[in-house]
Amino acid sequence: MTTVEETGGSWWRDAVVYQLYIRSFADGDGDGLGDIAGIRARLGYLRDLGVDALWINPWYPSPMADAGYDVADYRAVEPAFGTGEDAAALVREAHGLGLRVILDIVPNHTSDQHAWFRAAVAAGPGSPERARYHFRPGVGDAPPNDWRSVFGGPAWTRLPDGDWYLHLFDSAQPALNWNLPEVRAEFESILRFWFDRGVDGFRIDVAHALDKDADLPDVGGEEEAMLAAAGGDGHPFWDRDGVHEIYRGWRRVADSYAEQKVFVAEAWVSSPERLIRYLRPDELHTAFNFDYLGAPWDPAALRTVIDASLSTMHAVDAPATWVLSNHDVVRHVSRLGRPLASGHSLNDLPPHETLDRALGRRRARAAALLLFALPGGAYVYQGDELGLWEVEDLPDDVRQDPAWRRSGGAEIGRDGCRVPLPWSGTEAPFGFSPDGAAGAPWLPQPADFAGVTAQAQDGDPASMLTLYRTALALRRAVPQLGDGPMEWLPAEPGVLAFSRGEGFTCLVNLSDAPIALPGGRVLLATEALSGSLPVDAAVWLTDR
Ligand code: NOJ
Repeated sequence: MTTVEETGGSWWRDAVVYQLYIRSFADGDGDGLGDIAGIRARLGYLRDLGVDALWINPWYPSPMADAGYDVADYRAVEPAFGTGEDAAALVREAHGLGLRVILDIVPNHTSDQHAWFRAAVAAGPGSPERARYHFRPGVGDAPPNDWRSVFGGPAWTRLPDGDWYLHLFDSAQPALNWNLPEVRAEFESILRFWFDRGVDGFRIDVAHALDKDADLPDVGGEEEAMLAAAGGDGHPFWDRDGVHEIYRGWRRVADSYAEQKVFVAEAWVSSPERLIRYLRPDELHTAFNFDYLGAPWDPAALRTVIDASLSTMHAVDAPATWVLSNHDVVRHVSRLGRPLASGHSLNDLPPHETLDRALGRRRARAAALLLFALPGGAYVYQGDELGLWEVEDLPDDVRQDPAWRRSGGAEIGRDGCRVPLPWSGTEAPFGFSPDGAAGAPWLPQPADFAGVTAQAQDGDPASMLTLYRTALALRRAVPQLGDGPMEWLPAEPGVLAFSRGEGFTCLVNLSDAPIALPGGRVLLATEALSGSLPVDAAVWLTDR
């Protein structure tokens, strides 16, 4: 077995990172909520899947107004998830299996229950405690400016003493004032706290939002446009130039460790050119490729985004990353199964009646081979490997996403991609919680999860799980895969064909007819082949 000490320092350049949405992965103590004990019990599954690193969504103490993205204490673990000792044991055990551990840091906002915000509320207008956040008097009875929350409604909430505070997300997520040296120092200290405990890196929540225009000017325009505009051009809160100095400081912290520590940015910015500014050599290591995630199942669109990603990343010597799903977007089986869909949320996608789930699954298989063959790193959202789909018919009264609540139900929200995983058995909780558990899973699982449990797929040559395991094993075994060059090959219209170094070819058929297979030995295919590659299928070939 390879431990993390035995893998090289540049592991992050082509790591396959598995996203653990902790509350929905596995429940060790039977309360219906996933936890650290559940992860520890499944580390063998993750090692056998063949991933290199784990990214764990926020596990800190939290009132859970936004599923943990409202942090009350950055240096502790939420009791419902476990203890600090459990966290240390998880890091140790993961390392022993060769798995790195990346945590999720939430620097744009704290919980309204964080000690700083409670002190700010108690201290009153004009106090130094309020200077850590963005407090302002209103304009008469109106908020200080026109900024809107990403989750709907105004980005300001008024306290009984008349002051308003800024929150770009839920009102329970007050935004920190990053102009204050104390805020900067505190977060560098938090990074050290976890790095000292062996953590290998951080995913940075809304990395593009930290710097706000201190004058808090109106944005103007429609709500939609205000939030969609991913900033850059003098926007008062998205992707401002001032954010980069913060990350230079973070990089110095990471580089002060003998072991490799890394950052991945969640930055929804307007172009690849803006994104690579976060990845300059003295800033962050990698960033999620949301342009790729959002690309429709269309050969020209995919080729364009792949080319743009690779050429821009090359300019700063950062590896590209590739991602299909996460806890904020509709699961890709359900996106790819709709007519030419490119939206992220159910509100933006063609209606449920247009969904062909079998088609979505077939395309998801092909998309997986494409993902793992591209140069750079890849992300797998828990359940991708089981082919899970978006649960679109959750009853309204179980939905927990603040976007659903704050928009009065206008935004369907993200609960449908967060349903607890099915591990085994034929009925809920499908092994998510131990037998005889007191609590039901925090979101109900649909009955048809019975067919896609990890147990049901284990050993089935046609299953998504087998495809993922085989692809990831090959990715390790074939030296051309991972970091390195790729070259497009001449191909029929609608077909993506490329080589990786000498002797490895990936073909994806997005045309509407089968295509003849070129010569070479088939390493892996997403569908049965008989001399041709069917529609919506992919194949890996070698000439060796
Ligand atoms: C991005 C996270 O991925 C999302 O789940 C969260 O709601 C927002 N940031 C706010 O922290």
